[in-house]
Amino acid sequence: MTSSSFISLLLISSILVGSHLSLTSAQATPPLVGGLSYNFHSTNCPSLETTIREYLREIFNSDFGVAAGLLRVHFHDCFVQGCDGSVLLAGSTSGPGEQAAPPNLTLRPRAFVIINELRNRIHRACGAIVSCADITALCARDAIFLTGGPDYRVPLGRRDGVTFATINATLTNLPFFGSRVPTLIDDFARKNMDITDLVALSGGHSIGRASCPSFVGRLYPTRDPTLETNFGNNLTRVCPTNTSSGLTALDVRTPNVFDNQYFVNLVNRQGLFVSDQDLFTNATTRPIVQRFANNQTLFFERLAFSMIKMGMINVTTGTQGEIRTNCSARNTPTSYLTTAVIDDEQGKTASY
Ligand code: HEM
Ligand SMILES: *[C@@H]1O[C@H](CO)[C@@H](O)[C@H](O)[C@H]1NC(C)=O
Ligand SMILES: *[C@@H]1O[C@H](CO)[C@@H](O)[C@H](O)[C@H]1NC(C)=O
Ligand SMILES: *[C@@H]1O[C@H](CO)[C@@H](O)[C@H](O)[C@H]1NC(C)=O
Ligand SMILES: *[C@@H]1O[C@H](CO)[C@@H](O)[C@H](O)[C@H]1NC(C)=O
Ligand SMILES: *[C@@H]1O[C@H](CO)[C@@H](O)[C@H](O)[C@H]1NC(C)=O
Ligand SMILES: *[C@@H]1O[C@H](CO)[C@@H](O)[C@H](O)[C@H]1NC(C)=O
Ligand SMILES: *[C@@H]1O[C@H](CO)[C@@H](O)[C@H](O)[C@H]1NC(C)=O
Ligand SMILES: *[C@@H]1O[C@H](CO)[C@@H](O)[C@H](O)[C@H]1NC(C)=O
Repeated sequence: MTSSSFISLLLISSILVGSHLSLTSAQATPPLVGGLSYNFHSTNCPSLETTIREYLREIFNSDFGVAAGLLRVHFHDCFVQGCDGSVLLAGSTSGPGEQAAPPNLTLRPRAFVIINELRNRIHRACGAIVSCADITALCARDAIFLTGGPDYRVPLGRRDGVTFATINATLTNLPFFGSRVPTLIDDFARKNMDITDLVALSGGHSIGRASCPSFVGRLYPTRDPTLETNFGNNLTRVCPTNTSSGLTALDVRTPNVFDNQYFVNLVNRQGLFVSDQDLFTNATTRPIVQRFANNQTLFFERLAFSMIKMGMINVTTGTQGEIRTNCSARNTPTSYLTTAVIDDEQGKTASY
């Protein structure tokens, strides 16, 4: 490439990036999808949001890892046939109790239990009027906020879907950790999510952990040269062979705090997955990574915008779907006849 065409490419990409990011300041929240509203449950279930926040605050005090688990459940829910709670169904390939789930997609079992416990408390207080999909979206927001991230309002009114996510739907809709930017951009574009959404939402990897199979391909048979040496040496200690099963933090700097250090890691070539590090390697996404690494306020604004947008992907609303009385199972004709409200002890074992 000649230097002048390189410069014009840079110019074009900075204009593109500028327009993506200026969208944020002009418009702090994305337009609402029909059927959702911020006050959907404010009259019929005013205790909804405080119930979730207070319960999660208590849970995270003893198990902050489950915050990451809850955030990831919402992402998987939205990317596989829309935010309709299908990921929560026993029988879905990333949902509870599914033995045939693809590898590397393991969601924390406790996240499903907590969503069911919350549904139980909320339905006891308000009746069976709040969907599992809405509860999941609120849990994701509180997972971000209670670990240090931004607070934002979540549009509500989702209804729960009645179809399981098949293994094929799950594999084709979830991005792969070995993908590079062009593929990731396509994966997100299929959900009407743009390049800035991709970078901002990848910042979800500011908390939580991953297991060796998700990144061991960067260590063996030869080490990925983009890995910073000390970081690579540490990963080799966690995964001494290509079949190791160790766990490591997604964000090496501040593993338990939701902040912009994930982007600082990328700038220092300490991103864990190929899909993380390539956001910095690739010239299209690099300027967005740099801006987020330099300005946490900007990252938080954009993250909130993109989380709200992701939370509206192919939602089921109005009279479609149902309000599940057990997040792990579709309603049966007798669901509403039997008591919708179960006691806490049953709620704890609801998924298993
Ligand atoms: C850009 C494409 C993405 C890819 C390729 C990807 C891939 C992965 C992989 C492979 C893991 C670790 C699984 C394991 O080894 O156990 C993981 C964990 C996680 N992901 Fe993503 N992810 C992506 C986007 C997102 C988004 C958009 C969010 C949320 C906004 C998110 C939130 C999380 C969280 C919180 C964890 C940690 C879960 C835990 O500790 O239990 N990811 N992701
Ligand atoms: C899933 O995809 C595989 C190949 O991609 C195909 O052979 C199989 O028939 C599909 N299964 C279903 C249930 O669609
Ligand atoms: C970076 O991503 C852009 C957008 O998908 C793509 O056109 C370009 O080829 C990528 N660059 C490299 C070096 O792969
Ligand atoms: C929503 O679902 C329809 C069909 O079910 C699909 O064609 C469309 O691509 C989906 N949209 C998004 C943004 O996922
Ligand atoms: C799981 O990890 C292995 C090893 O890196 C990889 O070959 C496989 O494609 C991954 N599967 C999924 C569903 O991501
Ligand atoms: C490597 O591991 C050591 C010991 O756990 C830690 O102090 C250091 O911060 C890590 N460095 C990197 C770059 O991962
Ligand atoms: C691990 O490495 C061995 C020896 O290099 C190789 O034969 C094997 O196929 C590799 N296994 C995986 C899961 O990549
Ligand atoms: C950081 O981003 C915020 C929000 O967009 C903006 O108001 C602020 O001026 C930025 N700070 C710097 C130092 O660029
Ligand atoms: C909820 O559904 C799951 C999956 O079918 C089932 O195992 C569990 O027992 C149900 N929970 C209650 C409380 O009925």
